This record gives sequence, C-alpha cells and structure tokens, in this order.
Amino acid sequence: MGTPRISVLVAAVALCVVAEAAAQYAPDGNLTSRADLVRAGRRLYLRRCVFCHGSSGRGDGPVARYVFPRPRDLTLGVFKIHSTPTGGLPTDQDLFNTLSRGLPGTTMPAWSNLSEQQRWALVAYIETFAAAFRTDGRLVPIAIGTPKPPLPESVLAGRRLYIEAECWKCHGMLGKGDGPSAPTLEDDWGYPIVPADLRISRNWRGGNRPVDIYRSIAVGIGGTPMPSWADALTSDQIWDMTNYLLSIIQQ
Ligand code: HEC
Ligand code: HEC
Repeated sequence: MGTPRISVLVAAVALCVVAEAAAQYAPDGNLTSRADLVRAGRRLYLRRCVFCHGSSGRGDGPVARYVFPRPRDLTLGVFKIHSTPTGGLPTDQDLFNTLSRGLPGTTMPAWSNLSEQQRWALVAYIETFAAAFRTDGRLVPIAIGTPKPPLPESVLAGRRLYIEAECWKCHGMLGKGDGPSAPTLEDDWGYPIVPADLRISRNWRGGNRPVDIYRSIAVGIGGTPMPSWADALTSDQIWDMTNYLLSIIQQ
C-alpha cells in the first residue's frame, strides 16, 4: 500500500518542479512561459495588489481614495521610476526593482517577501494593463557610469548648479521642498504633488544611492513636474549635483 502512495507523491512533486521550471522568467523566452507567468502574476495581483490598484489596474481599488499619493493607474503606461530616457516606459528590471523596494514615502509596499519568481510574474501581469507595453518600442537605459568622488570642489560645483538650474524654484533654497513653485504643482494624473524634501532621502521614490540620485536627476520622475536634466547638464555636472545632494541629506 505504502509504495504506490509514495510514488504518486514523488510523481506529483516532480510535476510541480517541472511546472515551476516552465514558468521560469525568460526575458527572451517563448510565449508559453510568458503566458504562464502572466497567469501566475494575475493570481498574485488579485491577492496582493487589487485593494489599491483595482481589478482593472486603474488605481481605483477600494482603498485608493484614502491614500496620498494615489495608487498608480497602471493602464496609462506612465511610471515614476524608469532608467530609460524621459518619457520612456520602465524596463522589466525597473518594474522588478520597484516591486522589490516599494515606493518609499508612499503606501506602496516593498514586496521583497515574495520570491523573485513571483515578482517577475507580477511584472509580466502588470505589463498587460497598458497598451504601450505592446505598441511602443522599449528604450535602452541611460548610461550612468561610475560615481565621481564627493570632494569639496564637486559638492560646491553642485551647489552652484542647484542655483543656476533653478532646482530651488521647486525644492527651496535649503532643499526643504518649499520653493516658490511648490504650491502650484500637479502630477500627470491630476493630483497636487509636493516637491521632495531633499534632506530626507529615505522618502525618495527612486532610492537614495548615488546611482539612484543620478538617475532621478538625469531622467526625472515620470508623470511628475520633476524634469529630466540629461540634455541640460553634462554627466559630470549631474555627478556634481548628486554629490551636493548627498552633502545635504540628513536622513
Ligand atoms: C496599500 C496600497 C498599495 C498596494 C497594496 C499596492 N500598491 Fe502599488 N502603488 C501604491 C501607490 C500609492 C503607488 C503610487 C506612489 C506614488 O505615486 O509615488 C503605487 C505605485 C505602483 C506602481 C508604479 C511604480 C512607478 O514607477 O510609478 C506599480 C508598478 C505598482 N504600484 C505595482 C503594485 C503591485 C504589483 C502590487 C501588488 C504586489 C501593488 N502595487 C500593491 C499603493 C499600493
Ligand atoms: C518644476 C519643479 C521641479 C524642479 C525645477 C526640480 N524638481 Fe526635483 N522634484 C520635483 C517634484 C514634484 C518631486 C517629487 C516627485 C514625486 O513625489 O514623485 C521631485 C523629486 C526630486 C527628487 C527625489 C526623487 C525621488 O526618487 O523621489 C530629487 C533627488 C530631486 N527632485 C532633485 C532635483 C534637482 C537636483 C533639481 C534641479 C536640477 C530638481 N529636482 C528640480 C519637482 C521639481
């Protein structure tokens, strides 16, 4: 009696392993594995995300009107965090990173408790909400290069640029987020938006490592008045600016 039961069990486990392997994320993989991934992502989405982002991804779940900023409308193809040039869709990796880290300073949680496989499945599923992922070409991430050492002359050059590039108009002279334009700002989704307090980096949506700060300055924060500086500033200047911000961060 025992032996057939055990072999059934072994067969079932083997089947699960095969099914799991078939659902492995494969960026250039075949459609079957992508479809499996989307299905797995949908199941997770309905359990974990629907309360805020809504069943059709419009950012209109039952909790949505109680949170500020509002949960993203995932159908519009506009995302805050992307490593691609301004206006570009995020890469799969960008979305994966956002899910892993969450959006600090908002109610969007980090999903690092889910397995990598589950996070990739969610990425595949949420990309089905916006037509842009099917119709628009995907842009290549900008080059970030290696950080420039935060020497005093780089910090000073960054401070000068902060004034010249008029970051202060939104972020205020001391970076408190209280510049003269601050009260009038709106995001692309039609809600008022507050410029980041540049002294409190743990609340920044896109992270506060030097490479994150460089990216936020270079490509901006999608769908918000925080512009891209990739055309106006050289890479060297963006590092100076990054070093200046690193020097005023208090937490
Ligand atoms: C408690 C509410 C809440 C839950 C639950 C939630 N989110 Fe969010 N999510 C938000 C909010 C709020 C934002 C927008 C924050 C902002 O605009 O800065 C957001 C933004 C996003 C974004 C946009 C990122 C960008 O760069 O613009 C994605 C993608 C996302 N959520 C995916 C998910 C997924 C997938 C899940 C489930 C695993 C999930 N969210 C669960 C509240 C939530
Ligand atoms: C027109 C207004 C405006 C100007 C000018 C502006 N910003 Fe911003 N910035 C914003 C807003 C609004 C946000 C908040 C975005 C959000 O909450 O998603 C922001 C966010 C940021 C962040 C946080 C990014 C994150 O991950 O959340 C940094 C860093 C930043 N700005 C730096 C700068 C620097 C440096 C300059 C000048 C080169 C600058 N900003 C110019 C409006 C502006």
